[in-house]
Amino acid sequence: MAADTDECKYFVRELERNDGCALKVKQCYTGGVGCVVWDAAIVLAKYLETEQFHDASPGADVWSGRTVVELGAGTGVVGLMAASLGAEVTVTDLEDLQTLLRENIHENQALITSGSITAKVLKWGEDASEFLPPPHYILMADCIYYEQSIVPLVESLKLLSGPETCIICCYEQRTEGVNPEVERRFFELLQQNFNCEKIPSEKQDPEFSSPDIHILHIRRKI
Ligand SMILES: C[S@@+](CC[C@H](N)C(=O)[O-])C[C@H]1O[C@@H](n2cnc3c(N)ncnc32)[C@H](O)[C@@H]1O
Repeated sequence: MAADTDECKYFVRELERNDGCALKVKQCYTGGVGCVVWDAAIVLAKYLETEQFHDASPGADVWSGRTVVELGAGTGVVGLMAASLGAEVTVTDLEDLQTLLRENIHENQALITSGSITAKVLKWGEDASEFLPPPHYILMADCIYYEQSIVPLVESLKLLSGPETCIICCYEQRTEGVNPEVERRFFELLQQNFNCEKIPSEKQDPEFSSPDIHILHIRRKI
C-alpha cells in the first residue's frame, strides 16, 4: 500500500544526534514494512556518527563531499543522518515509499546544512546507471528479509559499487521462520563477489547497539 500523505496516520520517531539536534522521522501506521523505522536503521544511523568515521583527524567533517546511496531506505532516517552530517545522499526505495521519503526530507531540511538529500525510485536488480559513478558509500538497513529479493539485491550491489565503495550493511539477525535461510543465501551469494568485515560492538554507538543487530563493511573483491 502506498504511504500516501492523505491516507496515512503518522507517528513521529525522534533520533537525537550527538550535538543534541534531533531528526524527526514520520512513520505511517497503514503502509508496508518500509513505513516504520526499524531498529537496524537506528543502529546504523548512530554508527555514522561514531569515532570510526573520525579516525584520521578527530572532529573532521568526514562525511562532507562523500556520496551515498541508501538502498531500501523506508522512512529515510539513515540517509537523513548521513546528509545532516554533510554527505551528498540519494535515498532509494520502491515507488510506494517516495511520498513518505519526500515528506521526511522536507521536515528535516533545516538540519541538512552542508550536505544534500534526494529521493529516487530504485527497485533492486533494475538499471542503476543513473546512480553512477559508484558512490563512496552504499548504506542498507534491514534489507535482508525475503527470499525473492536476495538475487536482485546482490545484483544492485554489484551494479552500484566500485572498487572504492564501502557498503555498510546493518541487519537484525532473526532466528524464526525463513529468516535464517534468507540470511544464509544472501551471504553465500554476496561472498562470490564481495568481502565482509564485521564491526565489533566497541566501534558502534555505545547506546544504540544490540547483540542481534550486526554492522558489516562490505567491499568488492579485487
Ligand atoms: C524492513 S524495511 C527497512 C526500511 C529501512 N531501511 C529501515 O531499516 O527502517 C525494507 C525496505 O526495503 C524496501 N524494499 C523491499 N524490496 C525492495 C525491492 N525489490 N527494491 C527496492 N526496495 C525494496 C522496502 O520497501 C522497505 O522500505
